[in-house]
Amino acid sequence: MAIKAVLRMGDRRLLETAAPVVAFDTVELHELLQDMRDTMAALKGVGLAAPQIGVGLQVVIFGVDANQRYPEAESVPFTVLINPVLTLLDEEQEAGWEGCLSIPGMRGLVPRHKRMRYEGFDQSGNRIDRSVSDFHARVVQHECDHLRGILYPMRVKDMRQFGFADVMDT
Ligand code: NI
Repeated sequence: MAIKAVLRMGDRRLLETAAPVVAFDTVELHELLQDMRDTMAALKGVGLAAPQIGVGLQVVIFGVDANQRYPEAESVPFTVLINPVLTLLDEEQEAGWEGCLSIPGMRGLVPRHKRMRYEGFDQSGNRIDRSVSDFHARVVQHECDHLRGILYPMRVKDMRQFGFADVMDT
């Protein structure tokens, strides 16, 4: 187990498209996930994508019960999601505040789809198929964006709603 350095915005590796995982339940995959869990826990994150620690694979983890970063948000079960496919359930979007371990100290108001379905696999190759909404849906969309080289500031509509968390008053 190891806490890895999280790449910060500006690093070109965060802009690349991640490759699908082709073999499940391998030593390498379990080690990657242990590193991701250790890193996310050490930084008190809600989610982490493999490209954020320099591994260009379609692997994300997320989950929160009571997190100091989002004290008002509902809990999300801890999930390992590999090779995800997202499907919109309708067109409704909702704006919400986001932060990212690759952009420390900042936050921004980001529109996301309110309801969506996600499919994929866990580290053992078991299928995952969930339909979720609100904060859970937001976290999944944020993490899966990392697999396509998209960081949340690219989705901020009004840059006046982007700034340093300790300066902003809402
Ligand atoms: Ni992020």
